[in-house]
Amino acid sequence: MQRQTDTAPRNDSSSSYGLVSRLNHWIVAAAMIGMLVSGLVMAYGPFERETVLAIMGWHKAIGVLVLVYGIWRVGWRVAQGFAADAAVMPRWQAVASRLTHWGLLAAVPVMPLSGLVMTIYRGREVDVFGLIIPAQNKIEWLANAAGMTHQFAAWGLLGLLVLHVVGALKHHFIDRDMTLRRMALRSA
Ligand code: HEM
Ligand code: HEM
Repeated sequence: MQRQTDTAPRNDSSSSYGLVSRLNHWIVAAAMIGMLVSGLVMAYGPFERETVLAIMGWHKAIGVLVLVYGIWRVGWRVAQGFAADAAVMPRWQAVASRLTHWGLLAAVPVMPLSGLVMTIYRGREVDVFGLIIPAQNKIEWLANAAGMTHQFAAWGLLGLLVLHVVGALKHHFIDRDMTLRRMALRSA
């Protein structure tokens, strides 16, 4: 007799996401949103220098962990491919959704890598909870290019994220299809 379970199977099928993909999605989504918010708070928040520096320490350390986990998360998606769309929709929506997913996937390594390169080539080390990534000899053009990438990619990520969340909510509350439910951690 087959055991009843209310969790998804571990691996993806051609029409839905498995447990590994769902966990990967929500762990990295929460981390990326947290990183985005902490970055924006550092850059535009009302805090004094001391508080900004404390946030920056956490931003860098957690960001490097996001890079390590993110490589596995993106690799898993590239290896598995995307599940077929959960709903029938106009072609432009299907294309927009796929492009958005690729853009979000790209942001997962690009954001932390650019942050890391900017920092170490400005001649500063990164302390990842005791593990030190050493400072490099300053290379101004590289640090500046990485800094620009970090800043512009952050705004790109924010834009894609808004599109992504609005799309997910539309599927769930207006179209009432399986799109959001098949990414949920329990059932479907
Ligand atoms: C994991 C994903 C990451 C995201 C989503 C992210 C996001 C951001 C955002 C939104 C800002 C403010 C940008 C602005 O000025 O408009 C920022 C700033 C900054 N981030 Fe990140 N970050 C990430 C990872 C990292 C990592 C791994 C490091 C370094 C190890 C880093 C170092 C910095 C630094 C030093 C700044 C201040 C900018 C400056 O001094 O010019 N970030 N980040
Ligand atoms: C509250 C925020 C979020 C919600 C409600 C949400 C919702 C969803 C849903 C419902 C799907 C399934 C789409 C489908 O079946 O075709 C999905 C897929 C996806 N989401 Fe999100 N998401 C959020 C945040 C994020 C963030 C921050 C990222 C950035 C890394 C992200 C990246 C992706 C990617 C790349 C996919 C394609 C499948 C995969 O590789 O996991 N999502 N999201």
